[in-house]
Amino acid sequence: MTNPVDSLRHANARPIVCIDQGPESEILRKPAEPVKRINRSIQQLLDDMLKTMYTERGVGLAAPQIGVGKRVIVVDVGDGPVELINPELTRAEGAVVGTEGCLSIPGVLGEVERAERVQVTGLDRNGRKIWIEAEGWFARALQHEIDHLDGVLFTDKAQRLFEVPPEKRLRIVYMGTPEFSAQVLERLLRQGFQVYAVVTQPDRPRGRGQKPQPSPVKRVAEDYMIETLQPERLSDEATLARLREFRPDVLLTCAYGKILPKTYLQLPKYAALNVHASLLPAYRGAAPIQRALLDGATETGISLMYMSEGMDEGDILLQRAIPIGEDETFGSVHDRLIELAAEMLPEGLRLLATESNPPRIPQDHARATYAPRIDKAETVIDWRQPAEAIVNRIRAFDPAPGAQVSWQGRALKVFAATVVEASDEHGRPGEIIAAGDDGVVVAAGTGSVRIGELQPPGRRRMTAAAFLNGYPLAAGQFFD
Ligand code: CO
Repeated sequence: MTNPVDSLRHANARPIVCIDQGPESEILRKPAEPVKRINRSIQQLLDDMLKTMYTERGVGLAAPQIGVGKRVIVVDVGDGPVELINPELTRAEGAVVGTEGCLSIPGVLGEVERAERVQVTGLDRNGRKIWIEAEGWFARALQHEIDHLDGVLFTDKAQRLFEVPPEKRLRIVYMGTPEFSAQVLERLLRQGFQVYAVVTQPDRPRGRGQKPQPSPVKRVAEDYMIETLQPERLSDEATLARLREFRPDVLLTCAYGKILPKTYLQLPKYAALNVHASLLPAYRGAAPIQRALLDGATETGISLMYMSEGMDEGDILLQRAIPIGEDETFGSVHDRLIELAAEMLPEGLRLLATESNPPRIPQDHARATYAPRIDKAETVIDWRQPAEAIVNRIRAFDPAPGAQVSWQGRALKVFAATVVEASDEHGRPGEIIAAGDDGVVVAAGTGSVRIGELQPPGRRRMTAAAFLNGYPLAAGQFFD
C-alpha cells in the first residue's frame, strides 16, 4: 500500500472510471500459496520485500507484488517493520472509509471502507506465532496486504477512484542543505509531491557548542520518513548505487552546497533541476540573496534551471521576478522567495511530466554576475562608505549574521537602518551625530545612517531607545 500523505485534496486527484492493471495483473489476481516451511529463502524474501517497500515509499507490500505467489506480507506505517507469514484476519470491528493507493497500481488512489480495528495472526521469520492488534492506518495496511494474498486489489473495493496528476507521480530525489532548501522541500511534500530520497550534507557542528547537528533539510526528511543520504563525497559509489535504485524521474537540487558531478546529472529520467534564488544569469553562486541586497538591487526572483556541469549556467525552465522593497531585509526576501519557489515548482514539474518539449531558454552568459559566499569580514561596516551602501549591508545581514560595528571595544550588531537626508551637520565617518529614542545617527562617507535597533554581545536585539537605557552611547563618540 502506498502512503497517501498526499490526501486526495493535496494530490488534486481527478476521478477515473477505468484503470489499466498492467502486465503484473495475472499473479496479482491469483490466490497465494501458504508457506509450508520457514527457511532461508523465506527470510530472504522478507528482506527483499522490506527493501522494495522502503525504496518505493510504500507502507505495505505483499509477496505477489514482487512476483512471488506466497502468503507473506510486510507493513511499516512508521512504527518499524512488521513481517507476517501466513497472516489471517481473526477479528474485525467497526468500519471507516479512507484513502488508499497501491504500489502495483501507480497513480491511482481510492476511497475504501475497511474495518477500524483488526486482530491478525501469523508467523514471524523464525516460525513463532504472533498476534497483532491494530487500528487506524496500521489496520488498513494489514487488510490491504492480506487482500493481495487472495488476489483482491483495493480498486475492487473502492467506492471512488481518482487519478493522481502526472507531476505528482514523478519520482523525485531532492538535494539540499540550508533552511531555504528545507522550507522549499516541506512545501513540495505538503502539496503531495513524491520525494523518494533526500541527499544533504553530513551533520556538522552548527551554532553554539560543538555537537554535530543535522541540516534543516535532514530534519524535514525525517519528519516525512524519507530516506536521507549524507555522503562525505558525492562521488561515493554506495550513494550513487542507492540513488539509482530509486529510479528518479527528476533530481531536484536547491542549495545543496556543492557542485554536482556529471554522474548526478545523468541519474534522472527527465531532468536534473536546480532552484536558484536569483534572476539568472545574475548572481550565480552561493549567496544570491545577500549579494542582491548588498548591491541595492530592486528586483530578484527564482530561476528553475536545468543543471549543467558549470555553476548555475544551465538553461532556464521557468523564471519569475519579485520586487525588493526599500525596507526589505535578507529575512523577508528569503521568505518571499521560498513562497515563490513553492508556487513555481508545481508548474515546472508539470511541464516536465506532460510536455514533450518543455521550455529550455539558454542564459546570456555575457551578462553573468557572481554571488560568492559571504566572508565574515564583509559583515563589518566600513563607515567611509556612502550611507546607501551601509544601509544595504545592514539589510543584507538581517536577521543573520548581523552587520557589525565596534563601539568602545564591544562588537555590536546593528539592524533596521535608514539613510538620513543630507543636512548641514555632518561628522567624520563613524561619528555618532545623534542618539535618541528615534535611533542612533552615524555619519558615513557621504550622508548619514539612522540605526533603529542594536544588539550587544550575548543579548537580544533591541530598539535604540532600549539600548540607550543600558549603555552610555552618546553623540560625539565614534564607531571605529
Ligand atoms: Co497494494
